[in-house]
Amino acid sequence: MTILYEPHRRDAQQFAAYLGGDTLIVTTLADLTRLLADLPGERLVVLGPGVELGEAMSLAAGNRVDRPGLGVVLVRASVELDVLGEALRAGVREVVPVGDPVALLAACSRSIEVSRHLTPVAPTAGNGDGAAGRVITVFAAKGGCGKTTLATNLAVALAAGGRRRVGLIDLDLAFGDVAIMLQLNPGRNLADVADLAGRLDERTLRSLFVPYRPGLDALLAPTGPTEGERVNQELVTRLLTLARAMFDFVVIDTPPQFNDLVLAALDGSHLHLLLTTPDIPALKNLRITLDTFDLLDLPKEQRLVVLNRSDAKVGLTAADIERVIRVPISAHVPSNRDVPVSINRGVPIVLDSPQHPVSRAIQEFASARLAGGSDRPGPGRLRSLLGRGGRR
Ligand SMILES: Nc1ncnc2c1ncn2[C@@H]1O[C@H](COP(=O)(O)OP(=O)(O)OP(=O)(O)O)[C@@H](O)[C@H]1O
Ligand SMILES: [Mg+2]
Repeated sequence: MTILYEPHRRDAQQFAAYLGGDTLIVTTLADLTRLLADLPGERLVVLGPGVELGEAMSLAAGNRVDRPGLGVVLVRASVELDVLGEALRAGVREVVPVGDPVALLAACSRSIEVSRHLTPVAPTAGNGDGAAGRVITVFAAKGGCGKTTLATNLAVALAAGGRRRVGLIDLDLAFGDVAIMLQLNPGRNLADVADLAGRLDERTLRSLFVPYRPGLDALLAPTGPTEGERVNQELVTRLLTLARAMFDFVVIDTPPQFNDLVLAALDGSHLHLLLTTPDIPALKNLRITLDTFDLLDLPKEQRLVVLNRSDAKVGLTAADIERVIRVPISAHVPSNRDVPVSINRGVPIVLDSPQHPVSRAIQEFASARLAGGSDRPGPGRLRSLLGRGGRR
């Protein structure tokens, strides 16, 4: 979460759109002071161009002494050298010109990194237990429901322009699409994890993640359908343990079937996002998935059902669907042709068009349901039940 202080509400809303879905807007100094007191772990406040320069300086100077872990990023209509010097002396971390959202996000991300080093033990927003990240597995037993679309866009939403560290893992080893959807080169990928098995530690694992945007790195699937065969359950379990220490959130995309790797991922996850679309085959598969989760003793409270293409006019209402699956729907993502268009352009819609209804649905779900919980991963109950095989 970022705090944005901008006295002019309309400008504030525009900046908040740049900054991501979970930005808290304040329009008065009194509100800012109150909010900062309520959020002692907060690491970033952005001061909009409408904040008086003198007020911005004294805010930054006060924080530098009282709260060094809180970074101040200042947005100005124009960045003159004397203002820049004065601001930096006062303790402002960065000064960014208005109308340059890329520079703003980069400045926010650098400031958060600095804060992280200054307050290394403080949990970041959404990092439930303070010591390690939360692992979220996106799953649907039926193919084509939108798992990769949701996983990639959620990862972007959770990274919030670099304010959180997110690791996206493509566990669809044979047919993974994350590299294509993000236009990344899978030169380094999950098959290398198997090669490094004996020497796998945080440093070697970090070298296999491909950087995408500030705060978001991806561990991609191999390019060939058989290259990932040496990846096994033990490796996935070790991978997740290491990744939890490296990221605030680990988002796992999966193939459309239960296999041993998926089960290891589910076992090591805090949350299971079960995706469906409003059609009978997908709902039938979701119902079977829920029953299978029960059999495997995966906790009900770790499940969230997401209805993708929720507004498709196919004769099934959300109430009908909830009746069939006997679980409430936690998020509704509308159907829109801009989704395949964004995929074909290789830019997740949340990044490309943050105000789009699909983006808003995903961002709101990320900030309301994912970035604030404190549940813990399963105790490894599945590992002992599972053998090899069953992989596509
Ligand atoms: N909300 C949406 N509106 C419109 N199209 C969508 C939406 N969500 C997904 N799609 C489209 O559905 C197709 C399948 O999406 P995606 O690849 O994310 O599914 P998947 O579950 O990962 O598939 P697989 O099981 O093959 O891995 C894509 O072409 C995507 O553009
Ligand atoms: Mg997929």
